[in-house]
Amino acid sequence: HTVDVDPSSYDAGEHDSFMHKEMVEQPAAAERVLRGRLDERFGTAHLGGLGMDARETRAIRRVKILGCGSAYYVGQMGAALVEELARIPADAEAASEFRYRDPIIEPDTLYVAVSQSGETLDTLLAVQEVRRKGGRVIGLVNVVGSAIARECDGGIYLHAGPEVAVASTKALTNMFLGFALLALQLGRVRDLSIADGKRLIAGLQRIPEQLEAVLAREDEIAGVAARLAEAESLFFIGRVRGFPVAREGAQKFKEISYRHAEAYQTSELKHGPLALISEAVPTVAVVPYDELTDRNVGALHEIAARRGPLVVVTHADVDLGDVDAVRIDVPRNERELDPILLTLPLQLLAYHAALLLGHDIDKPRNLAKSVTVE
Ligand code: AGP
Repeated sequence: HTVDVDPSSYDAGEHDSFMHKEMVEQPAAAERVLRGRLDERFGTAHLGGLGMDARETRAIRRVKILGCGSAYYVGQMGAALVEELARIPADAEAASEFRYRDPIIEPDTLYVAVSQSGETLDTLLAVQEVRRKGGRVIGLVNVVGSAIARECDGGIYLHAGPEVAVASTKALTNMFLGFALLALQLGRVRDLSIADGKRLIAGLQRIPEQLEAVLAREDEIAGVAARLAEAESLFFIGRVRGFPVAREGAQKFKEISYRHAEAYQTSELKHGPLALISEAVPTVAVVPYDELTDRNVGALHEIAARRGPLVVVTHADVDLGDVDAVRIDVPRNERELDPILLTLPLQLLAYHAALLLGHDIDKPRNLAKSVTVE
């Protein structure tokens, strides 16, 4: 079973594919998910659909995020946001595994289901598992009135608009922003200061134009993709905030380019896979300007010493020293919000590699837009 969006009501227009159209729509989609939800005066977010008052919100001891595929990777970005902004222990788990391990459901844990389609069976069954055991679940869902949206106790609609391409792009960006709003609201009823709240709101307001600035560099990124498309196998590396970005980058590459792309924590390379680095195996490294920059650059030296070709998605402030690398600089935001801006070039890389390889961009082999079977 697959859920097919009727493409006649939504066409790709001047774009060669829905994926391209949907990538380009991201600044507008980002504005929609933020609209009406930012409270500049109190430095917080207003999410009317959560259905929790301040007392209930303060009682949350843990946040558990459930999603599949790319929604799971964005869930990992979301867990980091919740921990950083609200200081509530949070993690993400593949919803497809969750119900099989007889999970312990705790009353003071907030469960968050994340899904573009709202019809992914594994995610829906994870929601049902939580609810059957008395847990509270909210949804971060794009499709209004979908099965997951209906099954949750409350939630945040993502307002990304219809997404047709199997490779999800704008919905993922809006999931990230949805998590930022949630983390901001949870943080502000706890210990996040009003100054930090205002700082993050200003950062969120810059996101649409910064996404636009990355999209404006598409030709340059297409040139980089041409180098990567030749490789049979690639690494995508990042650490802490950058690791889910690397996972999502590898996912997109596999999905539409059909190349073997492996995501790894930069810090773990030396514990094994460094043995695989060679002239034939490029690495795409996510290196934001943050407290880990120097350590990241150290790892790049290790790769360069083994003649591994390097593409570094980074910020202009990062000094790569004498490392031989092709760099893609993205605009900086607040550190907590950087992951989504680092993700967009990876979407463009996968898209342009797939285009060069002549693949069907919107309907990659063996995949459905929405997996509604076990
Ligand atoms: C994303 O590019 C993939 N097509 C896939 O991993 C997807 O994110 C996953 O199947 C979850 O779909 P959903 O968001 O509709 O639940």
